[in-house]
Amino acid sequence: MGQLDGTVAIVTGAGRGIGKAFAKVYAREGARVAVVSRTQSTLDAVVAEIRSEGGEAVGIACDVGVREQVFSAVEQTLSAFGTVDILVNNAQGFGTQSAPRSSTKFMTVEEYPDDEIEYIFRTGAMSTLWGMQAVFPTMKAKGWGKIINFSSTSGILGTTGNTAYNMTKEAVRSLSRTAANEWGQYGINVNIISPTLRTDAFEAWEVDRPEFVKALRENLPMRRLGDPEVDGGPLAVFLASHGSDYITGMTFMLNGGKMMP
Ligand SMILES: NC(=O)c1ccc[n+]([C@@H]2O[C@H](COP(=O)([O-])OP(=O)(O)OC[C@H]3O[C@@H](n4cnc5c(N)ncnc54)[C@H](OP(=O)(O)O)[C@@H]3O)[C@@H](O)[C@H]2O)c1
Repeated sequence: MGQLDGTVAIVTGAGRGIGKAFAKVYAREGARVAVVSRTQSTLDAVVAEIRSEGGEAVGIACDVGVREQVFSAVEQTLSAFGTVDILVNNAQGFGTQSAPRSSTKFMTVEEYPDDEIEYIFRTGAMSTLWGMQAVFPTMKAKGWGKIINFSSTSGILGTTGNTAYNMTKEAVRSLSRTAANEWGQYGINVNIISPTLRTDAFEAWEVDRPEFVKALRENLPMRRLGDPEVDGGPLAVFLASHGSDYITGMTFMLNGGKMMP
């Protein structure tokens, strides 16, 4: 028996990194999973991996920065699997629409350009809102639903050079608490994960700010950078299952003790 038997999960940004890890772990626990990101080839690879382990998944190509595509991804999930119980809003874009990047470009507050702020906010905060709005009718009708959103210690601490990302990630936390307040009455939990885990995005960040990331690694209380699947999987399953039914609006620091608010 899997802890998520009979459920359907949508995981955005599931082509690699944390999203891919969560999608795989959910499938192992019995959820049918909609694997969402922009690149069809990586989606196909993740779906194939899940199927090779005996799980069920579909890949849905979607740019979460486009409202219609987010609603369409939820519609496609409903067509494929009939319902949705779990939504993980993990995708986050960087750069601009015409020149996307794999990670933040560090600039001071006074020099941060509007187009970059707009794109990062749209692909992080607006996309999260759209995903939540799209699954809400189904979750409300069921009287149960699990939404997991993503923040960052960078946003909580106001890490320098990271204006657009910090604004975005703190907006996601505020949105999550608001929805937690409004939707608790419908049995819908909205929680937030603030991760520090080894992924491509993290490694790109390390290239841009080697000293900062070196210090971070060396000062982590756990003295190692966590693995998305091994260290992130158990929390992902907990927040998607009945064990967390009485927990909502909370930020979970999945970060080896990096920050202890
Ligand atoms: N890793 C960390 O330590 C860390 C720390 C703090 C916060 N976070 C947060 O955790 C989440 C996952 O981070 P990660 O490190 O796993 O990132 P990652 O390795 O860069 O993976 C990002 C995923 O999102 C997809 N994606 C990017 N833009 C998208 C868009 N516009 N529409 C749809 N999919 C999109 C990418 O695939 P395509 O390019 O194919 O679309 C990829 O599958 C993010 O919200 C990030 O801000 C991570």
